[in-house]
Amino acid sequence: MIDPAPDGHAARLRKRLADRLTASGTLRSSAWRTAVEAVPREAFVADGFFRRSNGPQGTMWTPATPADDDDADAWLEEVYADETLITQLDSGVHPGDVDGPVPGAPTSSSTLPGLVVRMLEDLAPKGGDRVLEIGTGTGYSTALMCQRLGSDQVTSIEYDPATAARARAALAAAGYAPRLVQGDGLLGDDDGAPYDHLIATCAVRTLPPAWLRQVKPGGTILTTLSGWLYGSGLVQLTVGEGGAAEGSFLPGTVSFMIARPHAAPDLGDVSHLLHQPGDERPARYGPEILQDWVPLFLAQLAAPAAQYLSTKTDGGPWLDHAIDITNGSFATLTPAGGDGKHHVRQGGPHRLWDDVESAIDIWKAAGSPPQTAFSFTATPTRQTVRLNTSGTPGGPSWTLRL
Ligand SMILES: C[S@@+](CC[C@H](N)C(=O)[O-])C[C@H]1O[C@@H](n2cnc3c(N)ncnc32)[C@H](O)[C@@H]1O
Repeated sequence: MIDPAPDGHAARLRKRLADRLTASGTLRSSAWRTAVEAVPREAFVADGFFRRSNGPQGTMWTPATPADDDDADAWLEEVYADETLITQLDSGVHPGDVDGPVPGAPTSSSTLPGLVVRMLEDLAPKGGDRVLEIGTGTGYSTALMCQRLGSDQVTSIEYDPATAARARAALAAAGYAPRLVQGDGLLGDDDGAPYDHLIATCAVRTLPPAWLRQVKPGGTILTTLSGWLYGSGLVQLTVGEGGAAEGSFLPGTVSFMIARPHAAPDLGDVSHLLHQPGDERPARYGPEILQDWVPLFLAQLAAPAAQYLSTKTDGGPWLDHAIDITNGSFATLTPAGGDGKHHVRQGGPHRLWDDVESAIDIWKAAGSPPQTAFSFTATPTRQTVRLNTSGTPGGPSWTLRL
């Protein structure tokens, strides 16, 4: 699978990828460029990946393995595109397991190289630094770090046993020998701590206390904060003394699969919940705010256990719901008139949409700043996202539910 020829097709594609990532400003250092030009991505998707298509049955996934592709060169071109390659569905289905298109939810992937490289550049480990990665996935990002820092400096944790085994084999075949752990990365790695840096390629709802303990004071944690509404933001924290960390959200619209123990509970049948008594009023913001990056992030901060659902009754309009099944609260948005306005009906112990609208009001009053205006402070007992209005700290904040 690995084409070792320095002037072979794969090597030319690696160089082309490095050129493109350099031109876009993603690759910023010669050290990471050398790693991109050296690590064979095809070795980490040797069992293939899934191509996505959308049809009448919704999203379907078609396996693309090197063996079933007549044109091996075209397959290799796809491997070196700056795209995410989905390698597992539903926590157990791999490309070799199925013949035709199948439905399913992605549960493991090789993240697009542009994002991996951008995060590694942001992390900026120096020679001699030790890095803990959460979410080995295929092992491609692990290999880039091994290539740049040396395998002895890298530990990576993968939750899914089958994925961990595949990554272990791929890393060995490509000549890398990092410390690999199969387990829950939210518990970190006490045995190898303390680390200089922690990088997560799965998202978390709250920062795991173990990460705060296991990164040295002065070290950094780079992770995506996400949640059950799929609002998301990449944050870089510096760890201080006493298990506290703080930092800012970075530019860009970065999202990752949520860490498996942080995944949303199944909503199940919520019809009884939605028929509870409630109160109705004109909504000041409609469901369209959940389409925009920063407002969606704010909605999630304001209603941290809410999940989104849309439903349609025969002949009726689409209804949008925010539902918190942890406490039985709901908000249902119904179109009112033809001008994009909505009514909201809310019930249960919390008025979810009131909280969402208040958060959006605060952000608008501050001039609708980008996500980089937000900062994050974490201690083992309290985690807060703050909007630093006018560039000064001390603005409005939202405390995460630990
Ligand atoms: C986007 S993929 C990782 C991509 C990978 N870094 C690469 O370059 O191929 C996310 C991975 O995180 C893993 N994961 C999810 N929850 C986890 C957890 N709690 N601990 C460790 N890994 C986890 C998933 O199984 C999945 O393989």
